[in-house]
Amino acid sequence: MIEIREAVINDLPEITSLFRNTILHINSKHYTENQIAVWASGADNEKKWTARITKNYFIVAEANNTIVGFAYLTQGNYLDGLFVHKDYQRQGIGAKLLRVIESQVIMAGFKEIKSDVSKTALPFFDDYYYEVEKKQMKHLKGEVFENYIIYRTL
Ligand SMILES: CC(C)(COP(=O)(O)OP(=O)(O)OC[C@H]1O[C@@H](n2cnc3c(N)ncnc32)[C@H](O)[C@@H]1OP(=O)(O)O)[C@@H](O)C(=O)NCCC(=O)NCCS
Repeated sequence: MIEIREAVINDLPEITSLFRNTILHINSKHYTENQIAVWASGADNEKKWTARITKNYFIVAEANNTIVGFAYLTQGNYLDGLFVHKDYQRQGIGAKLLRVIESQVIMAGFKEIKSDVSKTALPFFDDYYYEVEKKQMKHLKGEVFENYIIYRTL
Protein backbone atom coordinates (compact mmCIF):
# COMPACT_ATOMS: atom_id res chain seq x y z
CA MET A 1 0.00 0.00 0.00
CA ILE A 2 1.58 3.28 -1.14
CA GLU A 3 0.63 6.52 0.56
CA ILE A 4 1.47 9.98 -0.72
CA ARG A 5 1.94 12.81 1.78
CA GLU A 6 3.73 16.13 2.02
CA ALA A 7 7.32 15.88 3.21
CA VAL A 8 8.42 17.20 6.60
CA ILE A 9 11.90 18.20 7.65
CA ASN A 10 12.42 14.93 9.60
CA ASP A 11 12.27 13.09 6.25
CA LEU A 12 15.48 14.77 5.12
CA PRO A 13 17.90 11.87 5.86
CA GLU A 14 15.70 9.31 4.08
CA ILE A 15 15.13 11.61 1.12
CA THR A 16 18.81 12.35 0.61
CA SER A 17 19.81 8.71 1.00
CA LEU A 18 17.16 7.67 -1.55
CA PHE A 19 18.45 10.38 -3.92
CA ARG A 20 22.05 9.18 -3.57
CA ASN A 21 21.25 5.47 -3.95
CA THR A 22 18.93 5.90 -6.93
CA ILE A 23 21.60 7.89 -8.76
CA LEU A 24 24.33 5.35 -7.85
CA HIS A 25 22.27 2.31 -8.86
CA ILE A 26 19.76 3.48 -11.50
CA ASN A 27 21.07 6.60 -13.25
CA SER A 28 24.53 5.01 -13.35
CA LYS A 29 23.36 3.03 -16.40
CA HIS A 30 23.26 6.23 -18.47
CA TYR A 31 26.04 8.48 -17.14
CA THR A 32 29.79 8.16 -16.53
CA GLU A 33 31.33 7.31 -13.17
CA ASN A 34 32.48 10.92 -12.65
CA GLN A 35 29.09 12.34 -13.57
CA ILE A 36 27.38 9.95 -11.16
CA ALA A 37 29.79 10.83 -8.33
CA VAL A 38 29.19 14.56 -8.82
CA TRP A 39 25.41 14.20 -9.12
CA ALA A 40 25.12 11.89 -6.07
CA SER A 41 27.23 14.26 -3.97
CA GLY A 42 24.30 16.68 -4.16
CA ALA A 43 22.80 14.54 -1.38
CA ASP A 44 25.31 16.07 1.06
CA ASN A 45 24.00 19.63 0.72
CA GLU A 46 21.65 19.61 3.72
CA LYS A 47 20.97 23.33 3.48
CA LYS A 48 19.70 23.00 -0.09
CA TRP A 49 17.49 19.99 0.77
CA THR A 50 16.10 21.77 3.82
CA ALA A 51 15.09 24.70 1.60
CA ARG A 52 13.60 22.36 -1.00
CA ILE A 53 11.49 20.54 1.59
CA THR A 54 10.34 23.60 3.51
CA LYS A 55 9.81 26.13 0.70
CA ASN A 56 8.27 24.01 -2.07
CA TYR A 57 5.42 21.62 -2.70
CA PHE A 58 7.40 18.46 -1.81
CA ILE A 59 5.72 15.05 -1.57
CA VAL A 60 6.91 11.60 -0.58
CA ALA A 61 5.53 8.13 -1.33
CA GLU A 62 5.59 5.86 1.69
CA ALA A 63 5.22 2.09 2.02
CA ASN A 64 5.46 0.37 5.42
CA ASN A 65 6.98 3.49 6.98
CA THR A 66 9.71 3.63 4.33
CA ILE A 67 10.03 6.49 1.86
CA VAL A 68 10.01 4.84 -1.55
CA GLY A 69 9.88 7.94 -3.74
CA PHE A 70 9.66 11.71 -3.74
CA ALA A 71 8.87 14.61 -6.06
CA TYR A 72 8.81 18.37 -5.73
CA LEU A 73 7.88 21.51 -7.60
CA THR A 74 9.61 24.86 -7.79
CA GLN A 75 7.99 28.06 -9.11
CA GLY A 76 4.59 26.36 -8.94
CA ASN A 77 4.86 24.35 -12.16
CA TYR A 78 8.46 23.22 -12.48
CA LEU A 79 9.04 19.57 -11.56
CA ASP A 80 12.53 19.88 -10.14
CA GLY A 81 12.93 16.31 -8.89
CA LEU A 82 11.25 12.90 -9.17
CA PHE A 83 13.07 9.94 -7.70
CA VAL A 84 11.94 6.42 -6.86
CA HIS A 85 13.85 4.16 -4.45
CA LYS A 86 16.27 1.85 -6.28
CA ASP A 87 14.53 -1.26 -4.88
CA TYR A 88 11.01 -0.08 -5.82
CA GLN A 89 11.43 0.79 -9.50
CA ARG A 90 8.68 -0.09 -12.02
CA GLN A 91 5.95 -0.57 -9.42
CA GLY A 92 3.88 2.44 -10.41
CA ILE A 93 5.29 4.77 -7.71
CA GLY A 94 6.72 7.31 -10.17
CA ALA A 95 3.38 7.44 -11.99
CA LYS A 96 1.50 7.96 -8.74
CA LEU A 97 3.79 10.80 -7.65
CA LEU A 98 3.52 12.42 -11.08
CA ARG A 99 -0.29 12.34 -10.95
CA VAL A 100 -0.34 14.13 -7.58
CA ILE A 101 2.23 16.69 -8.78
CA GLU A 102 0.21 17.41 -11.93
CA SER A 103 -2.97 17.86 -9.87
CA GLN A 104 -1.18 20.36 -7.68
CA VAL A 105 0.01 22.32 -10.73
CA ILE A 106 -3.53 22.39 -12.12
CA MET A 107 -4.96 23.50 -8.75
CA ALA A 108 -2.42 26.33 -8.65
CA GLY A 109 -3.85 27.57 -11.95
CA PHE A 110 -1.08 26.67 -14.38
CA LYS A 111 -1.78 25.33 -17.88
CA GLU A 112 1.60 23.67 -18.30
CA ILE A 113 4.13 21.66 -16.30
CA LYS A 114 7.83 21.77 -17.17
CA SER A 115 10.91 19.85 -16.16
CA ASP A 116 14.39 18.89 -17.21
CA VAL A 117 15.03 15.21 -16.97
CA SER A 118 17.78 12.63 -17.24
CA LYS A 119 18.30 10.20 -20.09
CA THR A 120 17.18 7.53 -17.60
CA ALA A 121 13.77 9.11 -17.05
CA LEU A 122 12.93 10.15 -20.60
CA PRO A 123 11.05 6.92 -21.56
CA PHE A 124 8.93 7.28 -18.41
CA PHE A 125 7.91 10.87 -19.26
CA ASP A 126 7.35 9.92 -22.87
CA ASP A 127 4.80 7.41 -21.60
CA TYR A 128 2.96 10.21 -19.82
CA TYR A 129 2.66 12.44 -22.91
CA TYR A 130 5.49 14.83 -22.16
CA GLU A 131 7.06 16.52 -25.19
CA VAL A 132 10.77 17.24 -25.55
CA GLU A 133 11.41 20.95 -26.08
CA LYS A 134 15.14 20.42 -26.52
CA LYS A 135 18.15 18.41 -25.52
CA GLN A 136 20.56 20.42 -23.39
CA MET A 137 23.95 20.22 -21.75
CA LYS A 138 23.74 20.93 -18.04
CA HIS A 139 26.91 21.97 -16.19
CA LEU A 140 27.45 20.81 -12.62
CA LYS A 141 30.75 20.99 -10.70
CA GLY A 142 32.88 20.59 -13.82
CA GLU A 143 30.81 17.81 -15.36
CA VAL A 144 28.51 18.22 -18.36
CA PHE A 145 25.26 16.26 -18.33
CA GLU A 146 23.07 15.57 -21.32
CA ASN A 147 19.44 15.98 -20.37
CA TYR A 148 16.11 17.09 -21.80
CA ILE A 149 13.82 20.04 -21.25
CA ILE A 150 10.29 18.65 -21.36
CA TYR A 151 6.77 19.98 -20.90
CA ARG A 152 3.18 18.87 -20.91
CA THR A 153 0.07 20.94 -21.46
CA LEU A 154 -2.42 20.20 -18.69
C1 LIG B 1 11.94 7.73 -13.81
C2 LIG B 1 11.41 7.10 -12.52
C3 LIG B 1 11.02 8.21 -11.55
C4 LIG B 1 10.18 6.26 -12.87
O1 LIG B 1 9.62 5.73 -11.68
P1 LIG B 1 8.98 4.27 -11.58
O2 LIG B 1 8.24 4.18 -10.29
O3 LIG B 1 10.01 3.24 -11.82
O4 LIG B 1 7.98 4.29 -12.81
P2 LIG B 1 6.55 3.56 -12.91
O5 LIG B 1 6.64 2.19 -12.33
O6 LIG B 1 5.50 4.46 -12.36
O7 LIG B 1 6.41 3.47 -14.49
C5 LIG B 1 5.21 3.71 -15.13
C6 LIG B 1 5.38 3.45 -16.61
O8 LIG B 1 6.36 4.33 -17.18
C7 LIG B 1 7.12 3.62 -18.16
N1 LIG B 1 8.51 3.49 -17.72
C8 LIG B 1 9.02 3.66 -16.49
N2 LIG B 1 10.36 3.48 -16.49
C9 LIG B 1 10.70 3.16 -17.75
C10 LIG B 1 11.92 2.83 -18.38
N3 LIG B 1 13.08 2.83 -17.71
N4 LIG B 1 11.91 2.53 -19.68
C11 LIG B 1 10.76 2.53 -20.38
N5 LIG B 1 9.55 2.84 -19.84
C12 LIG B 1 9.53 3.16 -18.54
C13 LIG B 1 6.47 2.25 -18.29
O9 LIG B 1 5.45 2.30 -19.24
C14 LIG B 1 5.90 2.06 -16.91
O10 LIG B 1 4.82 1.15 -16.88
P3 LIG B 1 5.13 -0.44 -16.80
O11 LIG B 1 6.12 -0.65 -15.71
O12 LIG B 1 3.77 -1.00 -16.53
O13 LIG B 1 5.67 -0.81 -18.15
C15 LIG B 1 12.46 6.16 -11.87
O14 LIG B 1 12.92 5.24 -12.83
C16 LIG B 1 13.67 6.86 -11.27
O15 LIG B 1 13.73 7.12 -10.07
N6 LIG B 1 14.71 7.12 -12.11
C17 LIG B 1 15.96 7.66 -11.64
C18 LIG B 1 15.86 9.11 -11.21
C19 LIG B 1 15.59 10.05 -12.35
O16 LIG B 1 16.26 10.02 -13.38
N7 LIG B 1 14.58 10.92 -12.15
C20 LIG B 1 14.13 11.84 -13.14
C21 LIG B 1 14.32 13.25 -12.79
S1 LIG B 1 15.99 13.78 -13.15
